[in-house]
Amino acid sequence: MKYTLKFRIWHWLNAIVILGLLATVFLRKTFLSYKTNAEILMTKLSDMGVEITIEDAKILAKAIRAGMWEWHIILGYALAFLVLYRIYLFFTDKSKKEDFNSLTLHKKAVKISYYVVYTTILFMAISGFAIYFYKEIGMSKEFAGAIKNIHEFAFNIIMIFVPLHIAGVIVADAKEEHGLISTMINGKTKENF
Ligand code: HEM
Ligand code: HEM
Repeated sequence: MKYTLKFRIWHWLNAIVILGLLATVFLRKTFLSYKTNAEILMTKLSDMGVEITIEDAKILAKAIRAGMWEWHIILGYALAFLVLYRIYLFFTDKSKKEDFNSLTLHKKAVKISYYVVYTTILFMAISGFAIYFYKEIGMSKEFAGAIKNIHEFAFNIIMIFVPLHIAGVIVADAKEEHGLISTMINGKTKENF
């Protein structure tokens, strides 16, 4: 048994939630960008003979974006639960743990990338809730703004990890670690196939 059922379920739910969070960020920065949409609203309304200010156009554009962005928060709650569950698994799970020193240089690098990603995910969950509830926890707007900047910066780490990780496991599976991806689905090591 390489990965237990609990661990595999965690991995795939976590993958879905993180891809979902990335999708909400993508939409916020592209099709639902309030700046772009405010311009569109203003010009199209002007063509129809309705003049509105850019400030009002931004209010409308943000209102259109709001329903989509709620999913960032909903998925944010899901991520927080998955982080807690991963901590629980860290202490109780029987998935095969290899001794770090016995690994090849390549596998050490892969493991380090997982540690970096775990730390980043933990930070995203804490900072995300801190900015979402900044008033409730008595945080100043400026401080919340500073945390938001780091939250937005750390997003880049996730953005880089996801495609590298997917490409990495595909290449490893195709080259020397045949069945690596199935081990994350069926939990069996090569010897048990
Ligand atoms: C947003 C997407 C994803 C995230 C955040 C993610 C995260 C992770 C993490 C943190 C680990 C390390 C588990 C550990 O040993 O502690 C891992 C392992 C793994 N993931 Fe993903 N994953 C994602 C998507 C995928 C996808 C799409 C695939 C398959 C195509 C995949 C296949 C694997 C495999 C095969 C391993 C085991 C690799 C190894 O033993 O080094 N992951 N993933
Ligand atoms: C992997 C996880 C996450 C990623 C990659 C991520 C990414 C981002 C990015 C890039 C932004 C800035 C958007 C912009 O201003 O253009 C943002 C904002 C935000 N995120 Fe996250 N986030 C994650 C997790 C969370 C979690 C767990 C929460 C908790 C509820 C959260 C709550 C927020 C809030 C409240 C904002 C500020 C929105 C605003 O200023 O209106 N995020 N996130």
